[in-house]
Amino acid sequence: MSMPAPASDGFVFFGATGDLAYKQVFPALQALTRDGELDMPVVGVARAGWTLERLRERARESIARYGGGVDERAFERLCARLQFVGGDYHDPATYPRLRQALGGARRPLHYLAIPPSLFATVVQGLAAAGCAADARVVVEKPFGRDLASAQALNRTLHEVFPESAVFRIDHYLGKEAVRNLLYFRFANAFPEPLWSREHVAAVQITMAESFGVKGRGAFYEEVGAIRDVVQNHLFQVMALLAMDPPARTDPDAMRAEKLRLFRAVRPLAPAQVVRGQFRGYRDEPGVAPDSRVETFVALRLQIDTWRWAGVPFYIRAGKCLATTATEVRVALRRPPVAVFDDAPAAPANYFRFRLGPEVEIALGTRVKRPGEAMQGEAAELLAHRSLEGGALPYERLLGDALHGDASLFTRDDSVEAAWRVVEPILARDAPPAEYEPGTWGPAAAAAVLAAGERWYDPSPGLAAKGAPA
Ligand code: BG6
Repeated sequence: MSMPAPASDGFVFFGATGDLAYKQVFPALQALTRDGELDMPVVGVARAGWTLERLRERARESIARYGGGVDERAFERLCARLQFVGGDYHDPATYPRLRQALGGARRPLHYLAIPPSLFATVVQGLAAAGCAADARVVVEKPFGRDLASAQALNRTLHEVFPESAVFRIDHYLGKEAVRNLLYFRFANAFPEPLWSREHVAAVQITMAESFGVKGRGAFYEEVGAIRDVVQNHLFQVMALLAMDPPARTDPDAMRAEKLRLFRAVRPLAPAQVVRGQFRGYRDEPGVAPDSRVETFVALRLQIDTWRWAGVPFYIRAGKCLATTATEVRVALRRPPVAVFDDAPAAPANYFRFRLGPEVEIALGTRVKRPGEAMQGEAAELLAHRSLEGGALPYERLLGDALHGDASLFTRDDSVEAAWRVVEPILARDAPPAEYEPGTWGPAAAAAVLAAGERWYDPSPGLAAKGAPA
């Protein structure tokens, strides 16, 4: 294992007055301060016109709303460290002021909560003002909008920062449930002999949201479901499910396995994909009246490895669906011979990972129903259930980045490999199929399934059903 990297000694966030800072960054900063992880200058950068006082007020508001309430002691400590640098990102004079605000900090972390079109200007400004040497840079998704733009962004960042200093955030990887999925797979020996084409029939990953685009129509028009949640969040989940066990525990061993996996996923053909759009999306502010952007997608992935050849991996994601739930179901093959009469109709055994809103891990089995007949019913062996997600994803991820731990961040080669998979389906040649809000998307979504398969319904988790803890 390599030597642990030295911790960052300053925290800078660009886009300090923006939405991301408001919803995610301030709550994470309070939590990190409370845990004693942020004993360093904290500098918010945004265009001129704001004051430190106003930024503090905004931080308070943000934390009250999204951070589980203001912890006065931690908040006071955070405010004491918080500084504001206002200036145009295109103005070279902005960066020396940042350098000054950082004081003696020599290894700052720069979080770019700004549009990617500004990355080049900002990283060059940082370099020119002596803020980039030994520094780290954290960037947000969407990381590019296709393979070429992701490669261009990587080149831009690499002009100033080596890859080891670049941290690409995918907040899904910071979720407790997603980390538990990884833990469950590799901390237990019993799943591994089942975890291949020998025993797995199909894998389904569903990310359903019952709400729409929440006023983010203009943003959503630029992305759509494939770019918003599939190429990143759900591909990361798929990779954790499908990758081989890493040989070591260091971040690069894990990332190497993920990369191997992404490279083995066959680029999607249009016939493997169904796109949908909820009725009413075109009336959202910021959305074109003839928009072809998908708010729903269902697709079938093929993984060309000895472990997975022939096992379909299905992904389904959408807005305005029947419920809000993210769930993975790894369906096992049926017993080779039916011993009991009810066998053909019975669902096969499965592993179920509920990633949200609750966290659950369960194994679906059949047991005999009491009585004379050899008739069965479904029973789940529940390995884990929790209503709590642990630390906020951003708190965990920003804390890891400050320590230089890249395990939960995506590397340039993986991001590019993931774009390669979706590249053939990014063109919006055909209009998406319309679906009614509150349903499971267009009926055509069934077309991506193999014969005899159906989409499972990520019914309310056990927690919602009131099952005992
Ligand atoms: C974001 C997407 O990255 O993830 C949103 O832009 C989506 O469209 C969100 O709603 C889902 O994240 P979570 O953590 O609420 O499941």
